Amino acid sequence: MKLRVAVIVFVSVCALFAVDAFVLPPVTPELKKEAQDYYNNECKGCHRWARKFAAPPMRDNVEHYAGNPEGMVRYLMHPTPQHPDEWPAMEITPLTEDQAKMMTAWLLYILKNPDDPGRPK
Ligand code: HEC
Repeated sequence: MKLRVAVIVFVSVCALFAVDAFVLPPVTPELKKEAQDYYNNECKGCHRWARKFAAPPMRDNVEHYAGNPEGMVRYLMHPTPQHPDEWPAMEITPLTEDQAKMMTAWLLYILKNPDDPGRPK
């Protein structure tokens, strides 16, 4: 009986301190629309999809983070210099966690579905 109580207490304490697993939102039609608008307003000024512009090609950026979406979310929330000999640091208004997750989910989706009509130019 005492053991059972101990187990219940242990499990509850674990649940209390469990860190939320990292999950990206599902790419719904609504998310696509919102992410595309955000991209056009906040990213397109510097990035082109497949070529260098005022920033490295977005496709290469997303490929770089394909296995590490959490790293991309972190970067968008706190951009720090990544290639100081080639590029200036990315000067943008840092994204909120929700915005960063939305953009990461959408850009990874576009990388896998390059024929999507919403793909940035
Ligand atoms: C003012 C110009 C500018 C805007 C606007 C901009 N970027 Fe960038 N971005 C850059 C530059 C410059 C770099 C290269 C930075 C570096 O290497 O440190 C970069 C790099 C990146 C990288 C790659 C970072 C890495 O680890 O190599 C990602 C991902 C990225 N941008 C996403 C975005 C997204 C998403 C938006 C829109 C929310 C955006 N950028 C808006 C200029 C911009």
